[in-house]
Amino acid sequence: MKGLKIAVIGGGSSYTPELIDGFIKRVEELPVKELCLVDIEEGRSKLEIVGNLAKRMVKKAGLDIQIKLTLNRKEAIKDADFVLTQLRVGGLAARARDEHIPLKYNVLGQETTGAGGFAKAMRTIPVILDICRDIETLSPNAWLINFTNPAGLITETILKYANVKAIGLCNVPIHMVKNTAELLEVDSSRLQIEFAGLNHLVWGRKVYLDGKDITDKVINMLCDGASLTMKNITDLNWDKDYLRALSMIPCPYHRYFYMTDEMIDDMKTALATGEGTRADQVQKVEKELFEIYADESLDIKPPQLEKRGGAYYSDAAVSLISAIYNNKKEIHTVNVRNNGAILNQPEDVVVEVNAVIDSNGAHPIAVGKLPPEISGLISSVKAYELLSVEAGVTGDYNTALKALIAHPLVPSVKTAKLILDDIIRENRGYLPQFE
Ligand code: G6P
Repeated sequence: MKGLKIAVIGGGSSYTPELIDGFIKRVEELPVKELCLVDIEEGRSKLEIVGNLAKRMVKKAGLDIQIKLTLNRKEAIKDADFVLTQLRVGGLAARARDEHIPLKYNVLGQETTGAGGFAKAMRTIPVILDICRDIETLSPNAWLINFTNPAGLITETILKYANVKAIGLCNVPIHMVKNTAELLEVDSSRLQIEFAGLNHLVWGRKVYLDGKDITDKVINMLCDGASLTMKNITDLNWDKDYLRALSMIPCPYHRYFYMTDEMIDDMKTALATGEGTRADQVQKVEKELFEIYADESLDIKPPQLEKRGGAYYSDAAVSLISAIYNNKKEIHTVNVRNNGAILNQPEDVVVEVNAVIDSNGAHPIAVGKLPPEISGLISSVKAYELLSVEAGVTGDYNTALKALIAHPLVPSVKTAKLILDDIIRENRGYLPQFE
């Protein structure tokens, strides 16, 4: 077997040990020869700390995987078989600003959903397209697996504006499967969920246990207070009448759409009590994580990483890479061009659905026509995403304004303008397209 070269862009991320753990677990099916972790100058110290931990993890596992650390992105991408993007332009400080700005105007301030996600997208689009240019020239056959948030919108950008083989990935679907399996006290391999929607706006339309439809049972459990959420999202209970009427499993992020007022109140309370936004809290967790990573006696993924929202992220990523490499024809939930899978969405937009994965990539499985109670929301958010992609590429103020207004969680033109002007001002240096 030929050894694989994997390049991880944003390799200094605190999530990297999760990924390394995933590669170690699947070494028998995925012969990785070289894992090249790349970061930028500002991330040098994080890259060294996390990279050295990665080396110790691989050594402890007794594996012959070479871990390379570099600040030279081109060198990392050259001849890579897979390029993974997990970067955060501007770091957590920029995320904190994304969360604080909208809240000033009583609008949801969240990492990926709404105006906060828009700001992140504007910073990320020029960078991701630059990375794609490198892949086009230095490793045109490589697969790009994008986790960079907002993952659906960024994958949309890549598929529209670059010529690379790309799949967008998120841990929400796998998290929902694992979490539901825990509620049912069964092994997750017996469970299948039919997913459809957009990234961070995906519904489990049907849940099957050993092939038998148990959707109603899961909905009843949720109505009885069972929890399906993630570490980064406050676990408010769903409205039982609506859940029964909907007859599908919402993803944790639907709380921002279905309980907007409560979620904004919850965020404002966290601000008032000094707890801060999620980014404020995560900055503290990260500091603690890097202190733990720096301990030279540590040679495993530390349990403290579980305080983050990215659980199962390595399972999703490494099993997807293995399905491509081994031509497995396995079902994964990914962000991919619709190609008719959802009948009432355009063919050429990116959706999050189940797809068969083989060495030619992701082949979305037909979903059919979605009912109006969810297709309306999907269409609005997709319109916002498409306009955001245009704004991120062109830097056109009016398109950016149209994008924000199209988002269902941005209330008025006046507020959208205030938020947009703050975003442009507070992201100076990160938005070359607007300058
Ligand atoms: C989930 C989402 C990711 C998101 C993360 C935030 O895993 O799927 O897209 O970035 O949560 O977690 P954090 O611990 O950084 O708040």
